[in-house]
Amino acid sequence: MTIFQPDFLLHGADYNYEQWLDYPDILAQDFRLMGLAQCNVVSVGIFSWAMLEPAEGKYEFGWMDQMLDSLAENGVRAILATPSGAKPAWLAHAYPEVRVVDGNGRCEPHRLRHNHCPTSPIYRQKVRQINTLLAQRYKEHPALFMWHISNEYGSYDCRCDLCYNAFREWLQARYGTLEALNHAWWTTFWSHRYTDWSQIEPVDPSVHGLMLDWQRFISDQVLDFYLAEIEPLRAITPHVPITTNFMQPNVGLDYWKFAQYLDVVSWDSYPRWHSQPEGDTAVAVKTSFYHDLYRSLKRQPFLLMESTPSVTNWQGISRTKRPGLHLLSSLQAVAHGSNSAQYFQWRQSRGGEEKFHGAVVSHAGHEHTRVFREVTAVGAHLAQLQNVTTTCNQAQVALVYDLQNEWALDLARLPRSEDKLYQERCIAHYRPFWDAGITVDLIDSSTVDLTPYKLIIAPMLYMLRDGFADRLHQFVQAGGTLLLTYLSGLVNESDLCFIGDSPLRKLLGLWVEETDSLFAHHVQALHPMADNDLHLSGSYAATHFADIVHLDGAEALACYGHDFYAGQPALTVNRVGNGRCYYLATRPDSRFLHDFYTALSTQLDLPRAIPTPLPAGLTAQVRQNGREQYLFLMNFQPAPQTVNLGAAHYQDALSGDGVQDMVELEGYGLRVLRKEIG
Ligand code: GAL
Repeated sequence: MTIFQPDFLLHGADYNYEQWLDYPDILAQDFRLMGLAQCNVVSVGIFSWAMLEPAEGKYEFGWMDQMLDSLAENGVRAILATPSGAKPAWLAHAYPEVRVVDGNGRCEPHRLRHNHCPTSPIYRQKVRQINTLLAQRYKEHPALFMWHISNEYGSYDCRCDLCYNAFREWLQARYGTLEALNHAWWTTFWSHRYTDWSQIEPVDPSVHGLMLDWQRFISDQVLDFYLAEIEPLRAITPHVPITTNFMQPNVGLDYWKFAQYLDVVSWDSYPRWHSQPEGDTAVAVKTSFYHDLYRSLKRQPFLLMESTPSVTNWQGISRTKRPGLHLLSSLQAVAHGSNSAQYFQWRQSRGGEEKFHGAVVSHAGHEHTRVFREVTAVGAHLAQLQNVTTTCNQAQVALVYDLQNEWALDLARLPRSEDKLYQERCIAHYRPFWDAGITVDLIDSSTVDLTPYKLIIAPMLYMLRDGFADRLHQFVQAGGTLLLTYLSGLVNESDLCFIGDSPLRKLLGLWVEETDSLFAHHVQALHPMADNDLHLSGSYAATHFADIVHLDGAEALACYGHDFYAGQPALTVNRVGNGRCYYLATRPDSRFLHDFYTALSTQLDLPRAIPTPLPAGLTAQVRQNGREQYLFLMNFQPAPQTVNLGAAHYQDALSGDGVQDMVELEGYGLRVLRKEIG
């Protein structure tokens, strides 16, 4: 691995120089405008294969030489892409096996992008060839800063023979024998037993183990494709760090696993700002959750590789960003651990699918636009915050957001299959910490180290991966606090139900006898018990799922209010060793989550960005090292708000002015404050 530790914050965009080769005046303008906006990086060559290799074996690197030279002359670094995200027409026509085959056996016509077969040996060979040439040619080029591998790898659901055969080999490696596979997938059900590997086709949604393994296989196969792509780059340019741009997390790739093979995680963020009648807070919370995820994948700063400086053209409706929001949303990424703010795209293209997508430079072609001014403001802020790159966010709370669990849960046919909403519920449990300015890491349930945390929250952990129950037990035994909920610990990694005692029984100090599924008009009540040690009182609404449990060591902290199980436990705590394990047997309203986590955070003395409560719709996030701390105050409300800093003394990180007591933030405003610590 190459360690990626930039000593500056990256500011830049996807730059499609090759679209403008016939417009030298425009290209000359670009470098002037990049200077004005303080752009110090651009991602280049992402979709240039057809321009680099216009016919098989015929290469034209001249334009790329010229582009990289100009970038170097202008002090702009290149994040150079490998071009596998979009193949040239000649390649798709000469070698149809490189195209994706759909469920009806039809080979996709040459069109669009991000649609290659992840297994095709020919595609891998062609990609290797072009990547090798790029690396050889530019290995010493002063502009070469980082590799951008392909573009937004997805879950290529290719159903060609090559993929099916690779899947069967993957299964043979995983299960060894058909007998083991038949048991793991419980194929005696509906007479689905396989008697030959060749009979296995991932087309049966009723065999959940099969479909779960198909998803795992695709994820592994795309990772394998990536590893093949980077081989020549590692060999020829071992000093150049490597990333690939991830998307929002639920795209069918196990990013937790993938991230181990990147030098730095990067991702493309496209929140739907101004889309909600209630305002932008929920959008901001979700975006923060994603940023925290991408920081947590390697527990290191990440890069915001793409975001729009203004609008998208693929979300149905995309409003222009209200004044201030662009700076706020760009610095929001930095606040959560990004060392960059980058955009799609530098210059709006003249034709094609994305000609109306937002860009730093619009079709007007000059800098006298509101968007350009807002981008310039981001450039100016990042230039003054360089030291932020030496800091990171430090969390004592971890929330389990496990992608394989999400796949398994999505497949499950439960008495209530509607509105399982795994990701949304993880975000609901994350929200109270965002509101309070408490840093949260996200973790998955594979092998991640649990020891840095005081509190672990694992909503709806339907699938218990091997060894995780024991690791949670050790965490609690050693003094940790854990929260689990309904729909947890039901199946193993093959999606087979646990029989007899649940592996969580000792930890929870209870067992679940039944789960009631509630229709929308059934609202349960959750009544805290008198004198519970979290001081919860009154009554809360609960919906969707309600476990009916038997205590076996745990103590009830709240009970149900209605129906034949009224009075039975709805929230429990079990003391294990030096720690505690809470069980939330139902889906509570947001008020409950707020009150519950506020009480728990106080009991556990979790560090907050500032000691005083934050106004609604405003969050505070902290990045620090042993010497200094940066406090990011961010107001996602359109109206101004005031924050009380308490007794602490800060400096404004931009102006250097002293700041204490009450701080004013404009609507969609932000302040970055700094103080020395330690
Ligand atoms: C990203 C993609 C870019 C561009 C952008 C538009 O997902 O990587 O190439 O299409 O979306 O929002």
